[in-house]
Amino acid sequence: MTATPLPFVPPAPVPRTTPPSRLEIIRTVMRNPLELWGEPSFRLFWMKTRFFNERTLIANHPGLVRHVLVDNARNYRMATIRQLILRPILRDGLLTAEGETWRRSRKAMAPVFTPRHSHGFANQMLEQSQAFTARYEAAADAGDIRDIAIDMTELTFDILSATLFSGQVAGTEEEFAGDIERLLSTMGRVDPMDLLKAPRFVPRIRRMFGKKVLAKFRDIVKQTMAERERLMHDDPDAVPEDFLTLLIRLQGPDGLTIDEIEDNIITFIGAGHETTARALGWTLYLLANSPTDREMVEAEIDRVTAEEPDPVKWLDAMPWTRAAFEEAMRLYPPAPSINRAAIADDRWEDGEGETVTIEAGTTVLVMPWTLHRHTKLWDQPEAFVPARFLPENRDRIDRFQYLPFGVGPRICIGATFALQEAVIALGVLLSKYRFDCVAATKPWPVQKLTTQPDGGLPMRVSRR
Ligand code: HEM
Repeated sequence: MTATPLPFVPPAPVPRTTPPSRLEIIRTVMRNPLELWGEPSFRLFWMKTRFFNERTLIANHPGLVRHVLVDNARNYRMATIRQLILRPILRDGLLTAEGETWRRSRKAMAPVFTPRHSHGFANQMLEQSQAFTARYEAAADAGDIRDIAIDMTELTFDILSATLFSGQVAGTEEEFAGDIERLLSTMGRVDPMDLLKAPRFVPRIRRMFGKKVLAKFRDIVKQTMAERERLMHDDPDAVPEDFLTLLIRLQGPDGLTIDEIEDNIITFIGAGHETTARALGWTLYLLANSPTDREMVEAEIDRVTAEEPDPVKWLDAMPWTRAAFEEAMRLYPPAPSINRAAIADDRWEDGEGETVTIEAGTTVLVMPWTLHRHTKLWDQPEAFVPARFLPENRDRIDRFQYLPFGVGPRICIGATFALQEAVIALGVLLSKYRFDCVAATKPWPVQKLTTQPDGGLPMRVSRR
């Protein structure tokens, strides 16, 4: 009898057992917030603490998560620190809009993100993945090592660029991609002045560098929109049915203003490609370390890609591939923290005699990072076990303990799009190639907007 191999336990910071000093907190938040959380954050269902003098509640109980993000969501606004980082870039885009603007925009944009529209993008996802994968031919012949983290960012950018504006961007796509990279690395970060609650007139050094890139970037988006509007006017039959066209059509009193369309295009670029890229990279890394699961995924992909030419059907036809991707997002959630602030006093009862009081102004941290690795919610929380996400096991996972896309009124509007994209990309990549770790593959999860592999993901690509 052969013993079943133990599941792979991938790298993650060991939860601290002693509380950090104020200086350590600042350093850790700047370097890698994932290293901040202590052992109780992975064991307790809720924890009250003070973070830079601010009342903070860590919510790990599925019932409490549901209360904050769904049942009493109206009492919670976006947390200040998140808005300080993202609003200067995204303005009134859906991710950072609040109140009436958010309600109107979400309603107007809902039809753009229906499964029907996402399905309409499936063939472009397939074509882009196939075109991208062609570059592995030479790499496989030469036995090259590639940084899969960079590759996946390029692949998801290609898909986004095709579905967002059909490649019709003002200027060159390479320049555009470079600007995004610079923008996210300079502006989308916590600044120590934010943590110390310095008044707004105190300059945020990091963000000052980003301002020029942002202005240039907004300019390109403006020109791209103007060119498309001209085409819609001059030659309606030549207009592609991409996000840009769909958004421009939403202009109007109950829809979006032209500035909001611009903000949302920037939001989709910011929220819609790096997240999926990170999850894809981690999936390939985890599968490389878990040969039995990889065999299941490969066998499934071989069968489905041979029998089913329509990529829209792949999501349902590939439960193992989807499960591997979902398990990767459990261990390395692309959005590791969902932060809110209580508007008025609130309370929640756990049904077993305990009450949590939440004073107005309290920051509530619903963290997929702690929730997805919680010792009371998951069996072998640190281990890569994709089978837990197979359809037959799925009902053992509470809806509110697994939140890669959030939940409630502000749930990710692109979730269907992202899942479909991921399964199609994995289907194409893994039907032809195998990705293996090399001595230099030593990723360390770091939170920089998304959960990124520090050190990259150098992997050997070979033909299957
Ligand atoms: C694996 C990929 C993705 C992950 C893990 C992810 C994760 C999330 C999460 C956790 C939220 C909720 C944030 C909160 O409640 O504070 C969110 C919101 C959002 N996501 Fe995604 N996302 C992904 C892909 C996408 C894509 C592909 C798009 C667009 C094309 C997108 C656009 C948005 C937008 C616009 C919001 C704001 C929704 C609102 O507040 O109404 N995301 N995402």
